[in-house]
Amino acid sequence: MSEIIIAGNPILKAVAEPVTVFDKKLKFLINDMKKTLYEANGVGLAAPQIAISKRIFVADDGESGFEAYINPEWKPDGDETIIDSEGCLSVPNLFGDVERYASVIVKYQDMHGKRKVKKASGLLARCIQHETDHLNGILFIEKAISLHKGPKTDEE
Ligand code: CO
Repeated sequence: MSEIIIAGNPILKAVAEPVTVFDKKLKFLINDMKKTLYEANGVGLAAPQIAISKRIFVADDGESGFEAYINPEWKPDGDETIIDSEGCLSVPNLFGDVERYASVIVKYQDMHGKRKVKKASGLLARCIQHETDHLNGILFIEKAISLHKGPKTDEE
């Protein structure tokens, strides 16, 4: 498990480097990211969030299972967009409404380097867009239409 870094850390602002070597070290990293994701009860986690500036994210939307996305590139599948609430493990206790494409097609490589293509909608589509933003140094708070504090800090 790794520590998740918080907004303000310059690593989160960097454009992450593509993965070119698919070795045991990469498998170890993916496994660590998986543990870190589940420990934090997250839907997605990008490598820059554990201070590793590589184009990798992991996700589990609770429906389609765990997947590691390496060198991901997505494009919209249709024009429909949805505005919905979003949070981020690197931005604790802050939520915001973000407009995202309802459906996307993502191309990526798995941990063996095999090329894959996936259609995603719903939470997974939102997650893919949010996590790919992390790989380009962008946080959801820069795209949010409105921001509000989470329920945990709203107890007064
Ligand atoms: Co995030």
